[in-house]
Amino acid sequence: MSAPVSSSRVGVWLIGARGSVATTVVAGAAAVTAGLHPPTGLVTETPPFAGSGLPPLSSLVFGGHDTVDCPLPKRAEALAAGGVLPPGLPAAVAAELAAADVEIRPGGPAPGDHRTEDELIAAFAADIQDFVRRCGLTRAVVVNVASTEPAPAGRALPPSSLYAAAALRAGCPYVNFTPSTGLHHPALASLAAASGLPYAGRDGKTGQTLLRSVLGPMFTQRALGVRAWSGTNLLGGGDGAALADPAAAAAKNAGKERVLADTLGTTPEGEVHIDDVPALGDWKTAWDHIAFDGFLGARMILQTIWQGCDSALAAPLVLDLARLTTRAHEAGLSGPLTDLGFYFKDPVGEGPAALGEQYEALVGFAGRLGRSDGAGAQSGLDGSRRQGEPGGAGRLGGSGDACEQGDPGRAGLDGEER
Ligand SMILES: NC(=O)c1ccc[n+]([C@@H]2O[C@H](COP(=O)([O-])OP(=O)(O)OC[C@H]3O[C@@H](n4cnc5c(N)ncnc54)[C@H](O)[C@@H]3O)[C@@H](O)[C@H]2O)c1
Repeated sequence: MSAPVSSSRVGVWLIGARGSVATTVVAGAAAVTAGLHPPTGLVTETPPFAGSGLPPLSSLVFGGHDTVDCPLPKRAEALAAGGVLPPGLPAAVAAELAAADVEIRPGGPAPGDHRTEDELIAAFAADIQDFVRRCGLTRAVVVNVASTEPAPAGRALPPSSLYAAAALRAGCPYVNFTPSTGLHHPALASLAAASGLPYAGRDGKTGQTLLRSVLGPMFTQRALGVRAWSGTNLLGGGDGAALADPAAAAAKNAGKERVLADTLGTTPEGEVHIDDVPALGDWKTAWDHIAFDGFLGARMILQTIWQGCDSALAAPLVLDLARLTTRAHEAGLSGPLTDLGFYFKDPVGEGPAALGEQYEALVGFAGRLGRSDGAGAQSGLDGSRRQGEPGGAGRLGGSGDACEQGDPGRAGLDGEER
């Protein structure tokens, strides 16, 4: 028996809500819902997911945190001018962009903000809980699509970890689409384990690493000896600018290299470089150069060139992850969602590293979600624990509906962890 598709509204709280990926997520969900574009790139719209009981795209309601205040409609116009969004799309989905814009709250910590870590976590969690209440959402997932941070030094929680802790405190599942620390901080390990919430990450696998997770197993299965694997990425946009910081680039490259180690069984010679080329905007060129040995030591080379539109590659994955993670939450799952490794460079938990096997795991997971009654009746879908359901009455409505702009004093009424 397949799970019924829920008719309630589900929140997607984006950290970095005014960035390229987030704006493409909001505009893209609206465009596909309205039938303006086919769901190309949305894995969850393919037949194996039809009976999984995923929330429909039309039920998703967007909000989030950001540290800049550029209105979402204006950000969408800039993306259309750069060829990332189709011309005319920002006007066609203006109502949905405006509705999401109203739900974006100031992020942090801003320079000179002297609040303690706990005060910041409490404030972020209150914003998320306020969103869930005012919009009448059944549940919400927090997805980190903010600028990549350097790996933290010392004990202080980096912003991504403050937001991850806020997601737990607000009773929300959490997805880290970036290489930033998020829930990976040692100080959050016991909180994550005790929260009873599902989570997934890290760092969306959209281009060069996607290709690596296909080609790595090919070399291994054909018994070819990879001697060196080198790569260069040229990109602009906000991500290119953030990754111009060598510490942020190092965090990104660690995930790219993990895929090779996991699929080849060794770490070959070679490095990955990321160059910021502002003129390229959101368009990335990734070049890989693979030196390998064949029969009798014959020396050969494979070169690949990937030219992708980063936000168009990332946005459907964010929508897939939001749908799968909120459905997992509804089904009562908690802990790391290992079966979502298909989507990540550096997946949580122990799972296969080859894309084909990751896809099989994902489809198996989707099938098991479909056999859950939506109230955690089928325990241990993936060996995870079950948990209590957060309250909140569902409300019918489209994603462009405005949420009630209620009394901000109601925010954070139950800041305790669930
Ligand atoms: N596009 C892809 O293919 C892809 C793949 C994997 C991962 N990612 C990751 O997704 C993230 C977003 O990429 P993008 O192209 O949208 O970048 P972007 O620069 O356009 O957007 C990032 C947004 O995060 C905001 N931000 C920065 N610090 C913040 C904070 N402390 N709190 C709240 N918001 C904050 C910025 O103001 C900005 O609006 C990056 O970390 C990138 O590495 C992207």
